[in-house]
Order: sequence, then structure tokens, then C-alpha cells
Amino acid sequence: MVETMKIAVKRVNTSRITEVDFTNIPFGKIYTDHMFMADYRNGEWNNFRIIPYGYMPISPATPALHYGQSIFEGMKAYRGPDGEALVFRPQDNWKRMNISAERICMPEIPEELFMESLATLIDLDRAWIPDTKGASLYIRPFMFSADEYIGIKPSESFTFMIILSPVGAYYSTPVKVRIETHYTRAAQGGTGYAKAGGNYGGAIYPAKLAQNKGYHQLLWTDAKTHEYIEESGTMNVMFVIDNVLVTPALSDSILAGITRDSVLQMARKWGMKTEERKVSVKEIIEGIESGKVTEVFGAGTAATIAPIELIGYNGKDYYLTPVEKREFSNKVLAELEGIKRGLKPDPFGWVVKM
Ligand code: COI
Repeated sequence: MVETMKIAVKRVNTSRITEVDFTNIPFGKIYTDHMFMADYRNGEWNNFRIIPYGYMPISPATPALHYGQSIFEGMKAYRGPDGEALVFRPQDNWKRMNISAERICMPEIPEELFMESLATLIDLDRAWIPDTKGASLYIRPFMFSADEYIGIKPSESFTFMIILSPVGAYYSTPVKVRIETHYTRAAQGGTGYAKAGGNYGGAIYPAKLAQNKGYHQLLWTDAKTHEYIEESGTMNVMFVIDNVLVTPALSDSILAGITRDSVLQMARKWGMKTEERKVSVKEIIEGIESGKVTEVFGAGTAATIAPIELIGYNGKDYYLTPVEKREFSNKVLAELEGIKRGLKPDPFGWVVKM
């Protein structure tokens, strides 16, 4: 429950914005002047505050550090034609955050808390929303257990925060992925569908092994048989096979991506056939060889629509259609960017002005 949504604001004395080169923004390294924080104590959210972005004291015994009791979201805001902040599908991120919260045994974030804190923080740091091509303001809400207790039990105190980061592209070139058939990101009954910190932490080592061989990322397969493609860890994966948009059906080991859902909705609106189903490694490798698989791309908030250039499997690299020849993914990227930036009509009602 939110007691009363009164946010105390402590502004910076001097903004750091003049130090930022907005013509060359890396992903995830620059943070705006302020951050939002709220505390969950005695069954209630309170102490809503915006303070200067910076380091914060936490107990060395916090379960978030020891047991990975943390969840997060990723959203983006764009500068609209009239200077307003255009936030893409924030309610969907709020809903997904609460799905993650339940799985990691954390309290629900009320809609008012999520939306009000977001709007107030964005308003304060509005000047940080880039208007350069390919850039946006990445929004990172997150929650972690804040108990001072190293036993294992459901925590009683939590911190909810939002930080903002002007970002450029997550992948600056077409992506090279390797199909992973040994390590596992998520198993049935596990936490794969939640945006839980541990899912990402556990994936770093297998991804690094692939990166050592020149790939950017992995294409994870199912934990049981390693025969079916799941997602890419930093994004969902989608295929155009015989002019049909195909993507692995959601399960408890795949994150329900909001970009994934947006692409499916757009394709359906355009009259394209879509299939959410099991996608086997065999189908994709044979389909690339026969020419049936014409496009492969990742879909994610950070990654946007990331064309996949090649897929490594069993020691061989399978090259895909050159990116400039990909009709569907180029169209969906242009349309989605246009909607997000307020340059094209938004028939789905996805964009929230703040
Ligand atoms: C996002 O797309 O927002 C994510 O959280 C992915 C992360 C790897 C940056």
C-alpha cells in the first residue's frame, strides 16, 4: 500500500549535464542528476524521495548482495517533437515488475508509486532526454531486499529505486550469436520469466566464453534437451520463416519481452501470419541452409530490433540475409522508432506523455 504519495525532492546544486557529449553516448555509463527511492517497512511503502544520483549506504548483510534478491525493469523515454517525454508502455513494465516481485518473494509495487515516481523523476531530469538519432533515456526501476539478516527467509524490508541513463545503441553492429547447448539460463520451474538479477548474473560466464570466440551473445536453448531455442538473455529472438513471423512461445524460462509483444502486435496489424511456438535448433539451421529462414533478430528495450548477422552452431557459422535486404525487421524497426519518438501515429496507445 502507498501511504500518501508525497515525494520529497532534494535537487543537485549544479547539474552535471554540461559534462555529457550527447553526440556520442555509450550504453549504461552515464546517469542523470537525480534518482528516486522508496522504502518498504512494516508492510507499507513510504519515505518517497528524489535525491541527487550517487552512492548510497547499504548494510553488508543485505540479502540482495548475498542471495541475489533483486529485480529490475528496463524502459525507454524519447524526446517528442514538442519537447515532451514520451515513455514507451510503462504500464506493461509495471505489471511485469510485479510478476517478478511475486516470484522473488517481494512486495507488490502499487501502480501509483511506479507511475508517479517515474513522472516526477523524468520531469526533474527532462533536459537529459537525448534528441540525437539512435539515442534515448533508458529508465531502470529496480527493487532489492534491504533486511540486515544473512539467514534465508522472506525479507521484510525492501528498497525501490529508479535511475535514468541517457543511452546510445546497446549493439552498435549486427549481432553474432552462438547457440548454447551446454550451459542453461533458465529451467522449467525456475526464475527465467522474472526479470531477476540472478538470471543475468548467471549468464555472464557462458556468454563470456562465446565472446572469447568472437560472438556477442548466446542463443539459449531449453534446459532439458537443448533442442529448442528460448531467448538471447539480453533480448527475445524472432525469425521470419517462409514469410511467417515465428518466435518461441512464452514459458516460465523465457522473459515476456515488451518489444517482443509490440513486434507481434504490429505484424498482426499488417496482416502477417505470426506463430508463437516451439522453435527447434534443427528447424533454424536447416531453414538457413535452405533459404526458408530469411530474417533473425533480437527484440528488447535496450537492444531495440537488433539484426542477427550470423548464428554459430556446432563449430560452424551460418550467415543470414544481409541486413539491408531484410524487409520485415527494417520496416518494424522504422515503424517502432517512429511511434516511440512521436513521429508516427500510435494506433496501439503505447506511448505515455510525461
Ligand atoms: C532491457 O532490454 O531493458 C534489459 O534489461 C536488458 C539488459 C541486458 C540491458
